Amino acid sequence: MEAQITAIGTYAPEKVIDNHYFEQIIETSDEWIQSRTGIKERRFAHVNQYTSHLCIEATKNLSATYNKSLEDIDFIMVATVSHDQIMPSMACQVQHHLNIPNAGALDISAACAGFGYGLVLAKSLINSGMYKKVLVLGAETLSKVTDFSDRTSCILFGDGAGAVLVEATEAGNIGASLTGSEGSGGQDLYISTNASQVNGEQIHPNGKIYQNGRKVFKWAVTQMTLKFNQLLEMEGLNVEDIDWFVPHSANMRIIEAICKNVNLPVEKALESITYFGNTSSASIPLALHEGIKAGKVKKGDKIMLLGFGGGLAYAGAIVTWDV
Ligand code: UT7
Repeated sequence: MEAQITAIGTYAPEKVIDNHYFEQIIETSDEWIQSRTGIKERRFAHVNQYTSHLCIEATKNLSATYNKSLEDIDFIMVATVSHDQIMPSMACQVQHHLNIPNAGALDISAACAGFGYGLVLAKSLINSGMYKKVLVLGAETLSKVTDFSDRTSCILFGDGAGAVLVEATEAGNIGASLTGSEGSGGQDLYISTNASQVNGEQIHPNGKIYQNGRKVFKWAVTQMTLKFNQLLEMEGLNVEDIDWFVPHSANMRIIEAICKNVNLPVEKALESITYFGNTSSASIPLALHEGIKAGKVKKGDKIMLLGFGGGLAYAGAIVTWDV
């Protein structure tokens, strides 16, 4: 059997945080944030709202348009770097709160590439014949792991969640896919709780996000240009065949640079950076769902999804949309 995305749902907390919020707490400006990142605003969860809550809301939202039972889901995967707790897993929380009786449940730790990894794994579980219905979520409450004294990173992050169902069908719609990593860049983007060293370098184990923005920026543009072209070649497509490009939304300038390098008009990129900030594993489903709700994405459209970030890690796939 082939793997097919059959439903999508997303959720973002109600609390909107604009750029002026940061002018009160650090040396920055709305002008700097917008021009260097493309971010206008982001959402923050309230004090008692955690990643599992966002997962449950996104799945309920998916359920509202799916109109079939979720009880026969075989496996749940949640990609996140901002769990409520390290254990139990977010996937087990989703299983419990949505009463999905027999599902396997597993969290994925691949940062901003996590949703892409989930999609690739769901495809493999279905292609192998092991499972028929897999729920993949990317969900974050990054506001709870943000260092609000670090002006180079705190302005970037936001909270949100996205869910897709991947089912076994004759035709399928998930085509070429890839994953990869470059662990030597681990010290350029991390959240550390125990270790005081990464790759032999001294780090700050404060449980908050640290990022060497310039280094990750350059890596992302260079590597994702290569991976975009690799996915095209694997699928036997030209860049003109791609209707929508949904890269991880880390910075609008990264998206623009990749589009320029691969000769894709930037209007063909779907992004969630402007109104949600960088939501790590949630950014791709949020951008895709916004594109669908805006009537941009149509049945039959070829979509390239490409996640990248902490690890450093990346994962992508080409999907022919038919939900
Ligand atoms: O999601 C996972 C993957 N993540 C990414 O791909 C993120 C990649 N990196 C980025 O998005 C960008 O590197 C940042 C948005 C983090 C930073 O933008 P940048 O254009 O690379 O800025 P920069 O670090 O080169 O800093 C330029 C200047 C510096 O001042 P000087 O040294 O030129 O005087 C910074 O101190 O901007 C200063 N700066 C700020 N100014 C006002 C840094 N942060 C701020 C700020 N407000 N918030």
